[in-house]
Amino acid sequence: MTDQALPASELYTEEFAADPYPAFARLRADTPVCPVSSPRFDSYLITRLDDAKAALTDPRLSKDLYGPGQHYLRIFGPNSEALNRNMLNADPPEHTRLRRIVSQAFAPRRIEALRPRVAEIVDGLLDRIIPQGDSELMHDFAIPLPMMVIGQLLGIPETDHERVLDWTQVIRTSGSSGRSPAEDRAAVQEAQLRLHHYLADLVQAKRAHPADDLISALIDACDHEGKLSERELVTTTFLLLFAGHQTTADFIGNATVALLTHPDQLELLRASPELLPAAIEELLRFDGPLPVASPRIATEDIEYQGVHIPRGSIVGVVINAANHDPAHFTEPDRLDLSRERGAHIGFGHGVHYCLGVSLARMEAQIGIGALLRRLPELRLGVPVDELRRLPAASPFRGLLELPVRF
Ligand code: HEM
Repeated sequence: MTDQALPASELYTEEFAADPYPAFARLRADTPVCPVSSPRFDSYLITRLDDAKAALTDPRLSKDLYGPGQHYLRIFGPNSEALNRNMLNADPPEHTRLRRIVSQAFAPRRIEALRPRVAEIVDGLLDRIIPQGDSELMHDFAIPLPMMVIGQLLGIPETDHERVLDWTQVIRTSGSSGRSPAEDRAAVQEAQLRLHHYLADLVQAKRAHPADDLISALIDACDHEGKLSERELVTTTFLLLFAGHQTTADFIGNATVALLTHPDQLELLRASPELLPAAIEELLRFDGPLPVASPRIATEDIEYQGVHIPRGSIVGVVINAANHDPAHFTEPDRLDLSRERGAHIGFGHGVHYCLGVSLARMEAQIGIGALLRRLPELRLGVPVDELRRLPAASPFRGLLELPVRF
């Protein structure tokens, strides 16, 4: 890495955790391809939308973290195969094979059929919250909603959701626990190990007693059709479980804060609920839950914006910076729910484009729609600058807590 690399500690400050968009604007304008050095791993951050789209479809930028070079070691550390060697960390043709096995289950028509059940889950959660008069909305709503939906799709018994969430939340909130970095790493490893054992046991239980759910369908694809291995069965389940609730939970939290801090836009949406689908896209563009796409590896020396990126480098495409690129969005830092729908990359771009996009959109539309309809007096329970957020360097952008009153 060059001497001009920006130390991660200078980028990921407390101000950045509260509002990363001024720093993204500086990077986009001054160093659109920026080498960043960090004790964990060095990387090159790409912040302009055109470059971001080019990078996400560039065959020289690989997602094969477990192939030659064993790049996963720098990113996830050892013993990560049991959960993370899945389609997200693979290139075609392996990626194509793994994605094809589950893609039918997430096809728009199949997801649409879940609409009544998602609405029922949303109403059940709100029925419990409403008599209280206030709520910690991440815990009471934003996190359990997508967990219950993906849990039901996969076939994870509802009685297990709480402990599954205990483990996934250790992974999600890593760095914010007040533990030392070493203790924090150990806690994440422990949570991953428990989650792996839990999912491996669940697969065995379902093998003995198949049901009408996605894990049973994957077992069938493994045992009778030879389409995926036992390890891939568990890693695919983990990816669907984690990707299926984590980002949606953070998105519902971020979107709620964005609306509550932009009263004119909130009013507009309350008055014109037909804007909801477009509003969800704008809210995702405005403050998405996955600020940086998962890491890519340069398989050869490449150049972006005249910056030399040596072979073997880790490249991070900064989705939330690209989605505020003034070359593509007028007044990009303004939340404008009636904005002409632009080509944001909040769900990614290229072959790894979000598999769960239809489900995520539906959950967000039903969830946010019901919050506004059923809680007409909804407001923040603390000043916005006192909201507790995930740490600046977290791979996720979201809230630790979202106190609200209504
Ligand atoms: C991939 C965003 C919800 C499953 C991705 C990617 C993004 C993304 C940006 C591409 C990552 C990359 O290229 O590195 C989101 C957002 C969501 C959401 C913002 C919620 C608002 C979901 C849901 C599921 C899901 C509900 C359901 C299972 C996946 C999977 C991949 C993925 C499996 C990997 C696809 C592949 O590698 O081909 N998501 N996602 N996501 N997402 Fe989502």
